[in-house]
Amino acid sequence: MAESMKGLHRSARCAQFSKADIDKKVTVMGWVAKSRNKGGLVFVDLRDRSGILQIVFEESVSDSEVYAKAQTLKSEYVIAVTGKIAARAGAVNTNLATGEIELIGEELRILSESDVLPFPIEENSKTKEELRLKYRYLDLRRPDLQRNLIMRSHVATLTRAFLAQEGFLEIETPILTKSTPEGARDYLVPSRVHPGNFYALPQSPQLFKQLLMCSGYDRYFQIAKCFRDEDLRADRQPEFTQIDMELSFVDEEDVMDINERLIAKIFDEVLGVKISLPLPRITWQEAMDRFGSDKPDTRFGMELVDVSDVVRGCGFGVFTSALEIGANDAKDPGFVGSVRGINAKGQGGMPRKKIDALVEFAKGYGAKGLAYIAIGEDGTIKSSFAKFMTEDEMSALIKKMDGENGDLLLFAADKNKVVWDVLGNLRLEIARNLEILDKNQFNFLWVTQFPLLEWNEDANRYTAMHHPFTMPMEEDIELIDKEPGKVRARAYDIVLNGTELGGGSIRIHQNDIQEKMFDALGFTRESAYSQFGFLLNAFKYGVPPHAGLAYGFDRLIMLMTGSDSIRDVMAFPKVKDASCLMTDAPNVVAPDQLKELGIDIVEESNE
Ligand code: AMO
Ligand code: AMP
Repeated sequence: MAESMKGLHRSARCAQFSKADIDKKVTVMGWVAKSRNKGGLVFVDLRDRSGILQIVFEESVSDSEVYAKAQTLKSEYVIAVTGKIAARAGAVNTNLATGEIELIGEELRILSESDVLPFPIEENSKTKEELRLKYRYLDLRRPDLQRNLIMRSHVATLTRAFLAQEGFLEIETPILTKSTPEGARDYLVPSRVHPGNFYALPQSPQLFKQLLMCSGYDRYFQIAKCFRDEDLRADRQPEFTQIDMELSFVDEEDVMDINERLIAKIFDEVLGVKISLPLPRITWQEAMDRFGSDKPDTRFGMELVDVSDVVRGCGFGVFTSALEIGANDAKDPGFVGSVRGINAKGQGGMPRKKIDALVEFAKGYGAKGLAYIAIGEDGTIKSSFAKFMTEDEMSALIKKMDGENGDLLLFAADKNKVVWDVLGNLRLEIARNLEILDKNQFNFLWVTQFPLLEWNEDANRYTAMHHPFTMPMEEDIELIDKEPGKVRARAYDIVLNGTELGGGSIRIHQNDIQEKMFDALGFTRESAYSQFGFLLNAFKYGVPPHAGLAYGFDRLIMLMTGSDSIRDVMAFPKVKDASCLMTDAPNVVAPDQLKELGIDIVEESNE
């Protein structure tokens, strides 16, 4: 039977007491994490979001009614206990912040009881994630998830304080809006008042924050919910949070400076980790050439080596034919052929089976194959393509790769897009297999000078790599009409340990450049105006030069907490098929509701 807490006031949270409180009379409230009867003594571990406090009820001293009640306590009952803090009579528990003390219970109220739980509330739970997500409110009682969400709140608070001090204003932008230009699929919301019309949920506040610059707010930020209907992964959810900002009268240096100081402050205050500034910067081209990725993990080497010049004219057709790809007609640098390799130092003795697994892994990223040279400790060579090469050609290749006894050399030959993707991912896979990635090392870097446009083979046209409002580099503007694929953008990403943490750019604020951009993207004037007319019109009335950036807030917290997925740093995440196992969203709605919206559900016919 549930009792009232009337007249009781919680003195502090469970883990906030210490030796300094010995002999003080206090009241605590929380959940029974564990209770055990030990002949004349009942021990209770009381839990709240701060941690655990041990409570003891002693048969010899307690009121008999209180002692009897204490014996009935079960896991996850919510109780209030009043008593005195004492030094631990038993062994000190060094694993607990409150390990040197205990509370001698004098009064006990059971505020609510609990059914038997579907799974235990424990750190590093072994319970399947589906079950935990169905009962997320219980899962969220686990200390590791509580620590994650507490850190998330702490980082949000710090961010707000830091940006306010830098002169940013926190301004909210609409959720019911029109399609925004981030390139994913929109979530649509039907309008009742305008049957057949739909709002789109924002993929980001991009257009609104640019309008706020037109309106003179100068420095804006928002911890903003964004919605993107795309395939989910460990670091992607359909609804996620950005730390979003936009600034007027600034260039790249200003944006980077503020953000570097923000990051350094967060890491110092929350993790006690000193990030040395300025952060390293590399261009997109260098990132692709060295790491095969625009979000390089620089915690280890194994960099890509371009061996195209060494294998040109060799006897191995796979290599030579790759070098002919896009020689004259490449739409962007990704469509030029190359042969590149990585050197997995000391892995020359890798068993054939494991090499085959790497070949299969590479094929998963679009490789037609993966050529290898395994150099034994004694210098003997095993290779999948040595028979096509002369000895001199092999030695030149090994030399270029810095191959030594005991090394494993892996090569991909294809258009750059494929080669980069395959070797970039292979590099990560090998590092993961070797377990050399340290979660406590935080390697930040800026990637700059992204291509403005990328060729989309399926659509047979260029699309904006960042979004259509990103400014081209001044020296490349004249290429927009002639060689759009070569134009570099004033865009920058901030990368941490191989994850794209955030991205942004200097925006176009001149109508003539914007029109060139729309032309390159194949937009007609009408379609540009029908989608983004309100922004283009706003630009007619005095627009300041402006720039911005947005972080994936969930990703930041994922990396700070050492979590493997952003699901572990969001209170109520969705699963792979974008559903919520707890609420069963999305779900069918009542026919009346559909009727009101003028919507008819039609079964897909198989004809
Ligand atoms: P962008 O599309 O690069 O830029 O997004 C910024 C950051 O948001 C995070 N992110 C995601 N996190 C979780 N789940 C997702 N589905 C998801 N998609 C993106 C990433 C990414 O770096 N308006 C621009 C920013 C700007 O130009 O100012 C934008 O949204 O960490
Ligand atoms: P094949 O003559 O097709 O059996 O290929 C010989 C070797 O080259 C095999 O180890 C293949 O895996 C490898 N290979 C095939 N295509 C490629 C490619 N595009 N890039 C790298 N290696 C390849």
